[in-house]
Amino acid sequence: MRLSRYFLPVLKENPAEAQIVSHRYMLRAGMIKQQAAGIYSWLPLGYRVLRRIEQIVHEEQQRAGHIPLLMPTLQPADLWRESGRYDDYGQEMLRIKDRHDRDMLYGPTNEEMITDIFRAHVGSYKDLPLTLYHIQWKFRDEVRPRFGVMRGREFLMKDGYNFDVDRDAALHAYNRHMVSYLRSYERMGLTAIPMRAASGPIGGDNTHEFLVLANTGESEVFYDDRVTALKLGARDIDYDDRGQVAAVCEEFTTLYARTDETHDAALFDQIPEEHRKVGRGIEVGQIFYFGTKYSESMGATVVTADGSRVPVEMGSHGIGVSRLLGAIIEASHDDKGIIWPEGVTPFPVGIVNLKQGDGSTDLACEGIYKGLAAKGLEALYDDRDERAGAKFATMDLIGLPWRITVGPRGLAAGKVELTCRRTGTSEEMSPEAAVARVASIYAGV
Ligand SMILES: Nc1ncnc2c1ncn2[C@@H]1O[C@H](COP(=O)(O)OP(=O)(O)OP(=O)(O)O)[C@@H](O)[C@H]1O
Ligand SMILES: [Mg+2]
Repeated sequence: MRLSRYFLPVLKENPAEAQIVSHRYMLRAGMIKQQAAGIYSWLPLGYRVLRRIEQIVHEEQQRAGHIPLLMPTLQPADLWRESGRYDDYGQEMLRIKDRHDRDMLYGPTNEEMITDIFRAHVGSYKDLPLTLYHIQWKFRDEVRPRFGVMRGREFLMKDGYNFDVDRDAALHAYNRHMVSYLRSYERMGLTAIPMRAASGPIGGDNTHEFLVLANTGESEVFYDDRVTALKLGARDIDYDDRGQVAAVCEEFTTLYARTDETHDAALFDQIPEEHRKVGRGIEVGQIFYFGTKYSESMGATVVTADGSRVPVEMGSHGIGVSRLLGAIIEASHDDKGIIWPEGVTPFPVGIVNLKQGDGSTDLACEGIYKGLAAKGLEALYDDRDERAGAKFATMDLIGLPWRITVGPRGLAAGKVELTCRRTGTSEEMSPEAAVARVASIYAGV
């Protein structure tokens, strides 16, 4: 992408309405535009990151054996009357009437609808286990939408639902979700800690939230700081192996980590003092096992191996896809702008031409741009006729993890400069070496 032809409406001034750094940088970097309280347009740069996050979520869900589908944003109220939640949900639900005066709603979540799909098509234990998920826009009419995409009213969520024949199988599905979530967040460059949570309106007794530590987070968290060192890494996981998946969950949930809702001061005090930490966190996902809450009320049953008919065991599992952009920026920025982890960056690398219009500099930039493209990497090439300082400021603000700087002086010695956004360190090398280095960095991402 050539910056001269892109749509990147960068703001020079700090927007007054933004109270936290991620919101400020998302507006300044031209990633989003507010259209109404808690409702945003995703401008091209923001949209690219959103799609990257979605892609990681899709890949990791499917690796765990979960199946994508797509349910609508609008739902008939009658489904929610069956489960009893139409009246319970309260003012957070956006209620709409169609031209025939039928009650509709903009879905805040999809337990009822997925249960309706299940009961229409599945009736035997032989079709289980089954986990279906989608990534779809949700609407919750939050009292205080704020912090940009962190607490929107319309927001993008991955929500998945497991259907299993018995409790053990359903707990295995719960564990699969935990492991696949850990892997997804790690690929996004995040440490998200599973914390025991209290169950909300969705109901259930077994639930964890995933929290990213950040002092702007809305949840108060209490944890043993050794939990932040745990990494899944590249280890091979066989998602069908109940024992292996359960062992990973145990590894990540044994050290104390809770939100204020489930905090237990007596247990907390048993942690060695140097590891006992109180802080704040951003909830980027939650998993629930709730058994037969919806299958009983909505009549979703299966015939078991011995011929009896039982309500299917279920759970629901969400990832805050759009909130993750804010959470990643809260966790990864400096005073110049965003620092994208390689896994989610909108462009893998930026090219800065220090002397646009100079024949040999332009030619070298084109060569690098095409060399990267040949390796499957789409660079953002700043080919505008701008001062070097302005180009660097834009690159720093939008936070691409790597930058190749090309100018006549370096080229005279056959060199360009490769700069790491995170450390600020630069290295001189030939254009070919810069392309090869960037390609090798992304080969492992
Ligand atoms: N208003 C929102 N804006 C953006 N993301 C949200 C919003 N509400 C929930 N999410 C994201 O969707 C995920 C799954 O939804 P869930 O029903 O667990 O939300 P929640 O517990 O009500 O969230 P919160 O406690 O932050 O209001 C959450 O973990 C969060 O990351
Ligand atoms: Mg939650």
